[in-house]
Amino acid sequence: MFRPSPRSQRFFPLLMFLLLFSVPVYAEDGPEQPAVASAHPKATAAGREILEAGGNAFDAAVAVSAALAVVEPYGSGLGGGGFWLLRTADGREVMVDGREKAPAAATPDMYQDAEGEVIEGASINGPKAAGVPGEPAALAHLAGEYGELPLAESLAPAIRYAREGFAVTERYRTLAEFRLEVLRRHPRAAEVFLADKEVPEVGTVIRQPDLARTLERLAAEGRDGFYAGPVARELAESNQAAGGLITREDLADYAVEEREPIAFEVAGHRVVAAPPPSSGGVALAQILRMLEAKGYGEAEGAARTHLLIEAMRRAYRDRAVHLGDSDFVDVPMERLTSRDYNAGLAATIHPEKALPSAHLPGPPAARGGRNTTHFSVLDGKGNRVAATLSINYPFGSGFVAGDTGVVLNDEMDDFVAKPGEPNAYGLVGGEANAIEPGKRPLSSMSPTFVEGPERSLIVGTPGGSRIISMVARAVAGFVHDEGGAEALTHWVERPRYHHQYLPDEIQHEPGAFSEEERAALEEMGHTLAEMDRTYGDMQAVLWNRETGTVKAAADPRGEGEAKVLSPETP
Ligand code: DON
Repeated sequence: MFRPSPRSQRFFPLLMFLLLFSVPVYAEDGPEQPAVASAHPKATAAGREILEAGGNAFDAAVAVSAALAVVEPYGSGLGGGGFWLLRTADGREVMVDGREKAPAAATPDMYQDAEGEVIEGASINGPKAAGVPGEPAALAHLAGEYGELPLAESLAPAIRYAREGFAVTERYRTLAEFRLEVLRRHPRAAEVFLADKEVPEVGTVIRQPDLARTLERLAAEGRDGFYAGPVARELAESNQAAGGLITREDLADYAVEEREPIAFEVAGHRVVAAPPPSSGGVALAQILRMLEAKGYGEAEGAARTHLLIEAMRRAYRDRAVHLGDSDFVDVPMERLTSRDYNAGLAATIHPEKALPSAHLPGPPAARGGRNTTHFSVLDGKGNRVAATLSINYPFGSGFVAGDTGVVLNDEMDDFVAKPGEPNAYGLVGGEANAIEPGKRPLSSMSPTFVEGPERSLIVGTPGGSRIISMVARAVAGFVHDEGGAEALTHWVERPRYHHQYLPDEIQHEPGAFSEEERAALEEMGHTLAEMDRTYGDMQAVLWNRETGTVKAAADPRGEGEAKVLSPETP
């Protein structure tokens, strides 16, 4: 038996101290291997460049966001907005909300005609579809409050890409084809993004000197380089001259908000997710709590799928009824995310029968998202960023504001143009998400962190209304240990399915279900709608804090790149 000698007794407290504190304190040690996963190799390279130059995850996030604004002009940009979920190495968590805001002149019925009918395309195409951009303010905020490098240094790769150009890919072509008509309508957009008014060939180099100049102003002057002075003037004047509502005052008044993320425990894991004006965090909490209440971890095959579908149905229904910008409307967050409320909802899930959505009262269906963008970053110290950024539809509103090179968003379509009328993603909503001046449209963007006993996940994806169901399934996969040794790739790559309350159907990628599972789901009363394409572009980083290993995955559906960097990266 161990009997301490008088000498060792003397050192016992020191020994205990050393023992206690030699347990790895991850927050300080960091993962050693930084990682970046983004939707474009040039954006991942920009993140890498900034990490290698001594920047932290937040500087890298500025670099990746700005690079994506240049090389994915259809996905996000200075003319759009997004949510940057941050966790500092010492454990502080915050969401930087750079979501667009409705201009001061916006009204609830601005997309309806004299008869009160929604004008088709009005909230999607052209300058009047744009909210006041938030991304430039968010980048200045990230660099100023969290970064270690000057904003100008983190923006440098993007400025280079804008000047030197990037090559058109298949994805670019698909999305430009999809938006060809609206791009042709706006001469500045056609000039930059088309070749003689046609979709450019793969490999064509797209240079954006105007955008480079706007980025340089942001780099030199910070926030005011965009929201005041010549850029603001040009943006507002060109927008209004073409029928838009954004004024110089709207730009001057724009401010990012720091919001407390939604955090909840489920099955021994801590999930940190996006609060309103995103609906993502609330819906994730609801879905995962319902799954926990129904023993999802033990269910198998079609019964397991059925539980997830039914949980999605109920969470998307609550989204439609209750969610909106919490700066403007009361969102009953505590109730919606509580264990008890969701246990109640879960109790209404029949183990073998689908509940028709029509039996769930709500405001009164679907196309899918194809753009927007997500990236995940981890630095060597353990700082993390999950960011989902958007200009909404591919190439946003299709309108480039004068000589700013900025593609304006069409995020106003995320509001409810008329209660009960579905938006571009088939989402319905009510008063909570009605248009009001200065209000932020409800979003589905769901940048998310999950902390397990040993592993940490940074995850997110574009995909319109389907973002939430994709992220929920990835988180459920993590929390309930699906996928074995290749878990990360499994969560990112496996075929997807989705239910959003209305339309009342399971939309799914080809190959999502076996014949047997399909038959079992139909037997339960589910309607299956196979899509003719895949969706989403998930970017994820998984850090095993016990072993120090880091894995990163870019969705094979997209053209992105995930890189785990060398431990030598500063
Ligand atoms: O904020 C939202 O929920 C939408 N504007 C996101 C759009 C989107 O993800 C499009 N693409 N895939």
